[in-house]
Amino acid sequence: MELDYANMMSRCIGDKGLDMPKYPQSAFETVVSGLGKGWQEWSVLPTQKEIDEIISFCTPICASADSVVVLGIGGSALGAAAIAEALLHLRHNELASEKRKAPKFYVEDNIDPERMNALLDVIDVGNSYFIVTTKSGETSETLSQFLIVYDILTSRLGERAKEHIIAITTEGKGTLYNIAVKEGFKTFFVPSGVGGRFSVFSPVGLVPLACVGIDINALISGAKKGAEHSVCPELRNNIAFTMAALSISAYWQGRNINVMMPYADSLKLMSDFFAQLWGESLGKKENTAGDIVNLGQTPVKALGVTDQHSQIQLYTEGPYDKIVTFLKVKEFRSTRVIPADKRIDGLDFLKGHTLNELIGAELEATAFALKKAGRMNMTLTLDRVDAESIGELVAVFMYETAYAGAMLGVDTYNQPGVEEGKRATFAVMGRQGYEDKLKEIKTTFDDYKIMRD
Ligand code: PA5
Repeated sequence: MELDYANMMSRCIGDKGLDMPKYPQSAFETVVSGLGKGWQEWSVLPTQKEIDEIISFCTPICASADSVVVLGIGGSALGAAAIAEALLHLRHNELASEKRKAPKFYVEDNIDPERMNALLDVIDVGNSYFIVTTKSGETSETLSQFLIVYDILTSRLGERAKEHIIAITTEGKGTLYNIAVKEGFKTFFVPSGVGGRFSVFSPVGLVPLACVGIDINALISGAKKGAEHSVCPELRNNIAFTMAALSISAYWQGRNINVMMPYADSLKLMSDFFAQLWGESLGKKENTAGDIVNLGQTPVKALGVTDQHSQIQLYTEGPYDKIVTFLKVKEFRSTRVIPADKRIDGLDFLKGHTLNELIGAELEATAFALKKAGRMNMTLTLDRVDAESIGELVAVFMYETAYAGAMLGVDTYNQPGVEEGKRATFAVMGRQGYEDKLKEIKTTFDDYKIMRD
């Protein structure tokens, strides 16, 4: 892994760049001294015994199931979705089963009724496994999905329905825990000090990934490597700390937006994963001292080269309010040559080259265009996309976010804004105990409505 941040610096892009990123030692100490404690239990990676247990439970599912479906949302879904997309064949679910060698994989992180019905149209429910993941055990979206699939499973399989549900939740509390105990579901637990968006190296990510044959040993070995260099005290050699320092220094200079732009389809969902980490962890009303600060840098997801023809115009010439982080892959897992077709004139600059060369050239060209326009950008390069490099990348994103939170002086691990929405949903759906919340919600201002037939 390599970080090139020349295009963040004024020496390279002119007076709109940074003079020197600030390396606040105190942020490093805050994070590192708290690792493994409180809400930083995410830094404790699973033991070999825990990994082996997950693999031995998931291997028979991987060998026999039609589909594996994650029912979860936010941090209970995005990590597994992003890693699976990076590591499975890009058309995994469309491959013939002999080629796929693993179940189809779906992460259902929305409750659009059409999407649920569409899923049920394409999977063999009775031969599928549903991984119901909710740390709180209370999330309406996930529990409603659970009710739907358990009902169908029961009508198809009777008593055996319970064998097709795997519950991942907090031990000893919450509605899902109680249901799992009563129904006798196989259960895995989310460690108490691991929050949703930091939970991908716990059973939350590892169980679904192992069920589709991903090498979770290699993933964790990559995570260890990422963790090792992310706690390196020589801050200028610490990629996670440097990226946080650059992003937050830029934020203090008015760069309110942080665009994550992978140049590889396999990494497309990595920007969703990063966006959740960055947005939910850093966007806070209060700092840790309780002052109202309303801080946070808005993460934006983009994809190279697709968004060159959509958003890059804005990034190059719009307001100076963004930084762009490119994710580059040195060696793609396959090559596609552009044929040197003699019948076709005028395309000699493309003929005989590869799409690999072209995508690399376009990244270089876009970084240059941004640099020329005085726009801050940096490039994080992975040698290749495999389980180890993805484990390392995910670990770096988590450490980077932790450092950024410490630099901003906010509580990286809470999400009061999300919780308010969850309570409001309970109220609107008529859950007992939320009557006052419902009254608060139902105050309406009809004079601001426009109705047109
Ligand atoms: O990162 C977080 O804490 C959130 O995004 C949660 O993961 C999300 O709200 C789902 O919560 P739960 O796992 O309790 O269902």
